[in-house]
Amino acid sequence: MSSSVLYGILGLLACQAAAQADVITDDSYFYGDSPPFYPSPNATVSSNWAAAYEKARAFVGQLTLEEKVNLTGGVRQSENGCSGSIAAIPRVNFPGLCLSDAGNGIRSVDYATSWASGWSVGASFNRELAHKRAVGIASEFRKKGSNIALGPVVGPLGRVAENGRNWEGFSNDPYLCGALAYETVQGSQSVGVITSVKHFVAYEQETYRNPVGNVSSVSSNLDDKTMHELYLWPFQDAVHAGTGNIMCSYNQINGSWACQNSWAMNNLLKTELGFQGFVVSDWGGQHSGVASANAGLDMVMPTGSTYWGDNLTLAVTNGSVTAARVDDMATRIIAAWYQMGQDSSDYPAPGSGIPYDVSAPHEKVIGWDKSYKDIVYQGALEGHVLVKNANNALPLQSPQLISLYGYSAKTPDSFYVGNGEWNEGDYSLGENATYTAANSVEEGTGIAVNGTIISGGGSGANMPMYISSPFEALTARAQEDYTGLYWDFESTDPEVDPTSDACIVDVNAFASEGWDRPNLHDDYTDSIILNVAAKCANTIVVFQNAGARLVDTFIDHPNVTALIFAHVPGQDSGKALVSLLYGDENFSGKMPYSIPKNESDYAGLDAPSLPEGEFAYFPQSNFSEGVYIDYRAFDAKNITPRYEFGFGLSYTTFAFSGLNVALNGSVSTASYPTGQIVEGGQEDLWDVVATVTASITNTGSVKGAEVAQLYVGIPGGPVKQLRGFEKPVLEVNGTASLTFPLTRRDLSSWDTVAQKWELQQGSYPLYVGSSSRDLPLTGTLTIS
Ligand code: NOJ
Repeated sequence: MSSSVLYGILGLLACQAAAQADVITDDSYFYGDSPPFYPSPNATVSSNWAAAYEKARAFVGQLTLEEKVNLTGGVRQSENGCSGSIAAIPRVNFPGLCLSDAGNGIRSVDYATSWASGWSVGASFNRELAHKRAVGIASEFRKKGSNIALGPVVGPLGRVAENGRNWEGFSNDPYLCGALAYETVQGSQSVGVITSVKHFVAYEQETYRNPVGNVSSVSSNLDDKTMHELYLWPFQDAVHAGTGNIMCSYNQINGSWACQNSWAMNNLLKTELGFQGFVVSDWGGQHSGVASANAGLDMVMPTGSTYWGDNLTLAVTNGSVTAARVDDMATRIIAAWYQMGQDSSDYPAPGSGIPYDVSAPHEKVIGWDKSYKDIVYQGALEGHVLVKNANNALPLQSPQLISLYGYSAKTPDSFYVGNGEWNEGDYSLGENATYTAANSVEEGTGIAVNGTIISGGGSGANMPMYISSPFEALTARAQEDYTGLYWDFESTDPEVDPTSDACIVDVNAFASEGWDRPNLHDDYTDSIILNVAAKCANTIVVFQNAGARLVDTFIDHPNVTALIFAHVPGQDSGKALVSLLYGDENFSGKMPYSIPKNESDYAGLDAPSLPEGEFAYFPQSNFSEGVYIDYRAFDAKNITPRYEFGFGLSYTTFAFSGLNVALNGSVSTASYPTGQIVEGGQEDLWDVVATVTASITNTGSVKGAEVAQLYVGIPGGPVKQLRGFEKPVLEVNGTASLTFPLTRRDLSSWDTVAQKWELQQGSYPLYVGSSSRDLPLTGTLTIS
């Protein structure tokens, strides 16, 4: 009997009682413990990948053991600026591989675009936009000679509000995150670029993500149900979309490092989800040789030489790792390469457009393309969310004088791609807004930074062709209309001409990989807002925000008439903002996370876990809240947020009508799926069990797009969970019909005993509307 089968039986006995009720932490069998799952499964080969595997097997069959091992480990080189490289094997005409950051556009390279970041795409709730953006981003990777784009990010999911990387991903709702990840994978891979969906899994804080001194990486401790219903969910969508690569994360999962966790890689990913591609380690995330190989890791970055390389060859010769395991690593890597058509002679050579040093002479390789222009702009636009608009402050009505304040309105003083990223040193506001992250692994700059932000910092940062800052875009508009524009970006208590028609305060909330934010609002920024509001009756606040930003210190001030979360808009930031301010464009973005009133409303989910007590050397992060993060938690605890998940205003109004639900008679409603495993899990998880329909009408006076949202109450789970969204564009009086297909997975909960998704018999409340708390249509789906 294999250890996994034995463990499965023990687990079954141990958690039978727990399974009776849908109580999250009761399947403690998994909690804080990571069951072994061996051996590492060879790729089972889905029909979609059959041709690629046939070629890959033939290819790998010609290689020596050393050549196979070389495919599994990064090499350090100075020929190009790829984030990671696999060496060529000239003997068999294999050109090698270039892996490059990241999910929001190619990083640290000239002739590339600064796209709106993941969070803005999340706020757009727009699948088509996500797809087109991914095609554009990936086209730049391809032209630059990158084989693997290190993104999209679906972990962190956003459990901890202060996490420095939440902006890289789409949303802390797994359904929204998964739907947009699906489009991103499909869009990127349609142009032949392999996506590295990251970071697998439960990577929810930067603090202690890596060992520091004697202190180990944080362990994310979570139960099996929470794993499936929350953190694994978007990865499942990405695998279903056919991703060729997944990156394992820095953290430990239930006490075992993610990149040597057999339960996560061998079981969840390669068995349950039928993943066809290969797993790469996050850079430096490998902590063992034999253990990581046998647990399912296939490629290590940035170098194979620490634990693999010659050591892996030796491990095969002495029997610690089977030859079949190394064959499977190499075959998975080469299969992904064939699957995306990267063996084609027109695929640019690895790293050919990515100079090692942009300040040294190099060939000009253009990644950007004018045909992406509208998508770049649309990404910025739809990421803006209008959350307050009192006295019809917006859109601006032929203003004669605008006063502009705040450090985020202006372009940073300098930008040079060779600096690599927006990071410490690019900005400095002085001690009022800087902090030293004493509890963080790395020290970082303040949460508000001097100059407008177009992306967050770290490996997810991208490079602008130009920056349309709010100040420049507003100046251009003033010139066109012949409007007055005064500004002061330096003072915290600026002079205000009281006859100003509007005072715009543009500020930010910065975040970066490497450190978690020290808090969710800062006094420095609040004081600028309050000082302007004290002197100006029409104060419009704009945040470029790479993290949740609390607003209760100023939002009820009667002179604060409007508030916009611009999120992380990329290079078209100012142009998008100004079009929205003037009503040339309508707002259509929605909050992809909630903004509570106070830090305390998060119940501890606003700060990273630290080493403590008996775990002084082994920081533990207990996900004891289960699936109850963000709106699931606020609903469960009856906490009214300031701005709920899914909320966002428009210049028009919409009315919903006619909810209908129909069961699909031809699809089984048996308790468990019976289908074979395809990419993403059992095939019938994607059967459409029921379809909800409704209508929406634009009842206002201007054209607009509305994100119609469907929430479902799955018995025993959160009172409601997002399970559908559509975004029709409607002319005045225009009506659209809404169709929300509900798959078996959408309606199921994870059964920890059966180790399957269970479709329960019973009543499922349904809600349709314009936010998670504005749901005018209700109905019930009955499964019997
Ligand atoms: C570490 C980051 O966590 C990951 O997202 C990135 O892709 C790699 N470094 C490579 O830069």
